[in-house]
Amino acid sequence: MCGIVGYVGDGICKQFILDGLARLEYRGYDSAGIVCIDPKHNHFVFQKEAGGVSLVKKLGETARFDGHIGMGHTRWATHGIVDQKNAHPHFNCDNTVAVVHNGVIENYEALRKELLEKNHHFYSATDTEVIAHIASDLYDSTGSLDGMCTALVKKLHGAYALVLMLEKEPTNLVALRHRSPLVLAQHDSSVYVASDLSAFSDKASSACFMPDDSFAILSKNSVKLFDFEGKPLIPMFEPIDKKYIEIDKGGFEHYMLKEIYEQKRAITRTIYFCRLIGSKNGQYTDSLVDSFKHSEVNDEYSDQIWRHLGLSKDQVKRLKNVVLLAAGTSWHAARIAQFFFEMVAKIPCQVSLASEFRYMPFFPKDDTAYIFISQSGETADTLEALRLVNSFELPTVAITNVASSTMVREAGGFLPMQAGPEISVASTKAFSTQMATLYWLAHRIALERNTISWNDMHEAEEDLFVAAEILETVIENYKIKIINELAPKYAQYERFIFLGRHINYPFALEASLKLKEISYIFSQCYPAGELKHGPIALIDDKTPVVLFSILDDVLYWKIIANAQEVKARKGHLIIFAFEGQHELIDLADTLFIIPRVKPLLAPMAMTGLMQFFVYHITRVLDRPIDRPRNLAKSVTVE
Ligand code: F6R
Repeated sequence: MCGIVGYVGDGICKQFILDGLARLEYRGYDSAGIVCIDPKHNHFVFQKEAGGVSLVKKLGETARFDGHIGMGHTRWATHGIVDQKNAHPHFNCDNTVAVVHNGVIENYEALRKELLEKNHHFYSATDTEVIAHIASDLYDSTGSLDGMCTALVKKLHGAYALVLMLEKEPTNLVALRHRSPLVLAQHDSSVYVASDLSAFSDKASSACFMPDDSFAILSKNSVKLFDFEGKPLIPMFEPIDKKYIEIDKGGFEHYMLKEIYEQKRAITRTIYFCRLIGSKNGQYTDSLVDSFKHSEVNDEYSDQIWRHLGLSKDQVKRLKNVVLLAAGTSWHAARIAQFFFEMVAKIPCQVSLASEFRYMPFFPKDDTAYIFISQSGETADTLEALRLVNSFELPTVAITNVASSTMVREAGGFLPMQAGPEISVASTKAFSTQMATLYWLAHRIALERNTISWNDMHEAEEDLFVAAEILETVIENYKIKIINELAPKYAQYERFIFLGRHINYPFALEASLKLKEISYIFSQCYPAGELKHGPIALIDDKTPVVLFSILDDVLYWKIIANAQEVKARKGHLIIFAFEGQHELIDLADTLFIIPRVKPLLAPMAMTGLMQFFVYHITRVLDRPIDRPRNLAKSVTVE
């Protein structure tokens, strides 16, 4: 993880770097640091700060220097505790080479040992510091920046996005990229580098994503790009999508709350976008959406959809399997989507955690579509799983919220969700738009294979709009009660159990994750049918059980039996039930009633209310809701 930002040009760099770091704090907020070259003396000046909520603000106050070249870093700790010593930038022995790093150097212990034998001394406990020492030796032995870079990459194993500065090269920044993202931009005489477009999207109009295994030498007015052998490459600059310009909270107290309320619109946009993606010029605008709403879809359109996904129509018809790969909340969306692919498209579907999949035996099948689901499109485990599947030249599709992400660039095709930038660390609207996209895709595949008709397809889209509407209205129904009564009451409990069955088991997993990650309240989730096989021992009046009902005639009665099991042990039941489910409703200590939707959209209808409930419990506890401890928005380390 970690966020990097660098600047070289005629302007002064400190404020730019601090603004960029503030926007990259979603990548980690354990510590932050900044280094510039003092223009008078050509020496490094730097400052680092550890911990605290307004970390970058603090850094702005303590860093009393500026320059025309500099870089900054915001850290999510991997090696070495969170303190000032381990904050980036890191330096070589005589503080003449500085480095900031996102990633993990896997062979750093061996490198450190080698360096210690050569009398280098270390200041921090990080894996990063070795890079500054090695770069310093290599610059001295090769006498050039490109010589230093080509030799440096041969020494480092792992994943890294690096920016280096050398006092001996006071007009150059050096950027290297291997498996962690880095993006460059130019504007007038200024040159920028950062982990993510958002760091400079208000300053520059076009950007170049550094290709994997490349390095760049940056100076004012100039970007020189090379591959790892030192062969020059042409940097490809493209216009920046302005939606990455900083977004405010829009009057809400937290981004999470704002994003909960953005879900209906995000789902609606996502569905319109899905329909549009194969339209002639592939461009998405609001007027196009309007004109498309009621139009018929022809064969040409249908071909373009599959091309966009990197699949042929024929491949879709012959698909024997779908494999979904993801992490965290995205994995929960994938597990929900398994029901869509199997029950609607009638295609067997396996769901794997990307971090597990990579180390399991792999049996490549070319009649399988491998779909990678990720809000950020940068999650290291998911990205590595994608690279593994790509290495077998199999069909890969990325479903992400960030069209400029590494996953989109590396997958065979992609389908972007239209959630809009999600700032709060806890995923909300990304989760619901993932469900929407996957529901739509499962139906679209079913249509292509003649499993469903055009009418069914249109009905599925309408059902999604209805579920999105309910997601929002049901929050309003319980808003006052949650804020005034329920959140203060449940914030007093120290642990929770979550139960669900069938499609609502992965939804219960998501609810449990949401509660623990933002409130720090301990919670466990089980498939409700498993209760009697052990977890029932945990039931007491101090452990509320949150039970999600289901819209299935057989399983509904099983859920009632599970609720009875809890009540029989004097357990406390918080039930999310659907309208008319009186037998279940009667068993609730606290009750949320949701209007009925299509059974497979039950999780979507419950999503907003669940998130709102968890949000307000956390608010009562006064936790830093948008930035829970130990977390980062984009998990770019394995
Ligand atoms: C939880 C959350 C995480 C992410 C996970 C994967 O609220 O956001 O569990 O879902 O880190 O991230 P993406 O979706 O960006 O691959």
